[in-house]
Amino acid sequence: MPGPIRWPAWFGGQTPVAYGADYNPEQWPEETWAEDMSLMAEAGVNLVTVGVFAWARLQPTPQDWDFGWLDRVLDSLADHRIAVDLATATASTPAWFTTRHRQAALVTDQGVRLSHGSRQVWCPSSPDYRQASLEVVERMASRYGDHPALALWHVSNELGCHNAVCYCDQSAESFRAWLQLRYGDLDNLNWAWGTDFWSQRYSAWEEILPPRATSSFGNPTHRLDYIRFSSDELRGQLAAEAGLLRRLTPEVPVTTNLMLPSAWADLDYSRWTDQVDVIANDHYTDSADRRRHVGLALAADASRGLGQGRPWLLMEHSTSAVNWQPINRAKAPGELQRNSLAHLARGADATLFFQWRASQAGAERHHSAMVPHAGPDSELFRQVKSLGADLARLAPVVGSETVAPIGLVVDQNSWAASRLDCLPSSRLDFSARLRAWYEALWDAHLTCDVIPSNADFDRYRLLIVPHWSLMDLAQADRLRDFVEAGGHLVATFFSGVADANQRVHLGGYPGALRDLLGLRVEEFRPLLAGEEVNLSDGSKGTLWSEPVQVTDATPLARYLDGPSASYPAVTVVRRGLGAAWYVSTQLDSAALGELVDQVADQAQVPRIDAPADVEIVVRRGPQAQYTFVINHSEEDVGLRFNGVDLLTGDSGPVIVVPAGAVRVVEQRPS
Ligand code: GAL
Repeated sequence: MPGPIRWPAWFGGQTPVAYGADYNPEQWPEETWAEDMSLMAEAGVNLVTVGVFAWARLQPTPQDWDFGWLDRVLDSLADHRIAVDLATATASTPAWFTTRHRQAALVTDQGVRLSHGSRQVWCPSSPDYRQASLEVVERMASRYGDHPALALWHVSNELGCHNAVCYCDQSAESFRAWLQLRYGDLDNLNWAWGTDFWSQRYSAWEEILPPRATSSFGNPTHRLDYIRFSSDELRGQLAAEAGLLRRLTPEVPVTTNLMLPSAWADLDYSRWTDQVDVIANDHYTDSADRRRHVGLALAADASRGLGQGRPWLLMEHSTSAVNWQPINRAKAPGELQRNSLAHLARGADATLFFQWRASQAGAERHHSAMVPHAGPDSELFRQVKSLGADLARLAPVVGSETVAPIGLVVDQNSWAASRLDCLPSSRLDFSARLRAWYEALWDAHLTCDVIPSNADFDRYRLLIVPHWSLMDLAQADRLRDFVEAGGHLVATFFSGVADANQRVHLGGYPGALRDLLGLRVEEFRPLLAGEEVNLSDGSKGTLWSEPVQVTDATPLARYLDGPSASYPAVTVVRRGLGAAWYVSTQLDSAALGELVDQVADQAQVPRIDAPADVEIVVRRGPQAQYTFVINHSEEDVGLRFNGVDLLTGDSGPVIVVPAGAVRVVEQRPS
């Protein structure tokens, strides 16, 4: 079983923090490459991703192959002691392919077939694409499998970024095969989809189409199954490429870059992880998000959570502005360092950027890079070099694991379903709710793994489970076992409502969780935009309310007004050695914070005391523990530590972290 990165021999068995970027030398004249190599050395770069969008240069026509230029790039990288994360080059098809194989191009739900001219225009179910792409993979693996620079295979690129769903006839055929495997016979499908509603019943498989544009609301389970099918089709491409690579080069680890958390809504990543040796993620902060460092932390905790706590690779982030947001804000001084090291704190063993040198042409010419348009004599490149020096000092951290006693559970199926129509409220916004809980934990200096709902729960003392609406009874049993064995659980409104196929559990909400939570709800009473309800503990609720009837749960707060006035709003019940909380409205952030404090105390989650806006995360290794302190506030802070800061050499008992700065304190057992 290969390790996460197979570092070339010249690293002498030492494992550095991987530092680098996507390197796209094909966009530049060859004279530039020599300068690239020396600047990479200056910046401390040790790993670059090569070849992501190079298919058209590697196979310029259907008959011609040209690997000469890539040979020279890889040889030169090896000469400069820079390892390569080699992409399979299958992310974007050449124009000749899209022209010859029109049926391999994506079709929208309106039936429009897309044209060549952007990237990732291929249909995940296309046999022509599969065949052509595997030929590229085979040639890449045969040619470079033994190359001294090769450290890691990088399958495709952000699978599903632009082609998550295709509605073409080939997809329709694959969908039917997928459904036959899932349901066996049409009666089962008709029952699961509830097709006796609106005369939607199917009498032959051929009648089933992708959920293309139709007159009014489509069948919800038809639509949900299409999302699941589409995710499985992309997984199929990943599995085909990874399988071929493993057959040809078994000793080289394989990864692919995911897009957590945003793409998780449609892509069931927990079913992809068995195809990779290490989780890799791409993350870009949102210029419009005032607390974008919290969004970044969530993405990082999800990358770690998906890999069950193991270190992972940050495959892409940006040195400064991106090019695809409405306003592409440049990063503030220090933000580059804080962003990169926050990922590291949360378990990344690599911090790579998109991309090495800012493109001169093409859609991404205004995207930042390690070497900006201004060239190396720039503030940005100086920051890049300084980060490289920091990372060299942080090598001892590699392989250590981030300490996270809390699981924030994401049920991808429920997230996907929450984006469909015909729900009690269109305002639920799963991703905003996830962020609200996450932010409450972040503010309380509590580190959580953001985990899929099929993860191992036993690692955690406390599980927070927002809006797990589609829950089979067996899944509810797992939560009950967790609580009875001493775990603490927080469930929220619109949970346990229906089974995985959206068929509602009868007898009252929250259906599958009714007994565990000790309560029953007869109807949802969602709130209008701007509507606010007062609770008996002085807090406020928005978005949702429920007339909660307790069976054996204890009310902690009641609705004072609004559609659920006088009913309990927040409850708790003891079960076995643990306890289960229920929150039936969207609490204001102060109340959410208080609840998180209370629950964490009862779950006996160890706490770190630190000022507001100071991020503290601990990684623990066999020899030492590393406490990352990232000061997002505008005040300098002094924290008590018996240890040494790996970045400055400062040592305790008090380590000062200036406003905007980062410290990484190594503590060894005395
Ligand atoms: C990623 C992609 C890169 C580049 C980057 C720009 O989604 O993998 O190729 O496009 O975004 O931010």
